[in-house]
Amino acid sequence: MTSTTTRDLESQLNTLQQEAQQAIAQSENLEQLEPLRIQYLGKKGQLSKVLGGMGKLDPSDRPQIGALANEVKQVVQTALDEKRGALAAAAIEARLAAETLDVTMPGVYRPQGHSHPLSSTIERSLDVLVGLGYTVAQGPEMETDYYNFEALNTPADHPARDMQDTFYLPDGNLLRTHTSSVQIRYMEEHDPPIRVAAPGRVYRRDTVDATHAAVFHQIELLAIDEGLTFTDLKGTIKVFLEAMFGDLPIRFRPSFFPFTEPSAEVDVQWKGQWLEVLGCGMVDPNVLKSVGYDPEVYTGFAAGFGVERFAMVQHRIDDIRRLYTSDLRFLRQF
Ligand code: DAH
Repeated sequence: MTSTTTRDLESQLNTLQQEAQQAIAQSENLEQLEPLRIQYLGKKGQLSKVLGGMGKLDPSDRPQIGALANEVKQVVQTALDEKRGALAAAAIEARLAAETLDVTMPGVYRPQGHSHPLSSTIERSLDVLVGLGYTVAQGPEMETDYYNFEALNTPADHPARDMQDTFYLPDGNLLRTHTSSVQIRYMEEHDPPIRVAAPGRVYRRDTVDATHAAVFHQIELLAIDEGLTFTDLKGTIKVFLEAMFGDLPIRFRPSFFPFTEPSAEVDVQWKGQWLEVLGCGMVDPNVLKSVGYDPEVYTGFAAGFGVERFAMVQHRIDDIRRLYTSDLRFLRQF
């Protein structure tokens, strides 16, 4: 009787299968799996070793053990294959998870700028005026006495010419105190009919406070044609102010400007208060004469308004200086 019995081999094969299945189940990656295949199913592996013992069996028992050995081999091979498949899939899964871009994640926001309230007020005003048929024109900020005063029917002894109000330059020129100077420059270069809007910076020797600045902005309006009347002026101003401020009540108050006759100031009512927003009037015949237009043929109207004042009324800004300090906490509100 040999020491190796059928039983022994059977139990060895069963043990081998169990061990192999356990080891395979516990392996965590493909690198751990390949040594197991060699260990159990390789040429010099454990299954081969067990089979080596078959020679000592009774020949009649061999088919039974052979069949069992084949079955064990199949089972182990299948376990290896399945585990390999599972590990490979898990590896791909892990890689995909690691490399995935989450397209639903919020992007990196770049800070985006926007127009300054003064710029947007100018842009809006010009948009409306261009819609009414006006052309945009500009003139120099350094002016001569002639364009700023004389041609605008402002006599030499007029208080507006005072050193107190105007910045005079050493060469006798000045910094324009209003955009009305562009009226003269434009009329000199063009024949009627005229519809022109002139935005720009103006300068005054004012003490800076909540409602005054030494440098501010105006937009000038000028219309010259045959047969223009105060009704045209009123209609234009009404339409313009409605486009800017909405349906607020407005009123025309008699006033005086050297370059218009008659003249008016226009107020907008907001929260029970009348706020002055604009000066206007019919162009004085002397102004028309100064540019060579015949006042018997042509009439016209003009208007001028402060952009800062508009922006302040529109956005309820309490201090003009806020418009110049570049404080982002303030500017981000617009
Ligand atoms: N130039 C005037 C100012 O600065 C505003 C003004 C009033 C302009 C009446 C005009 C006008 O064109 O007709 O106060």
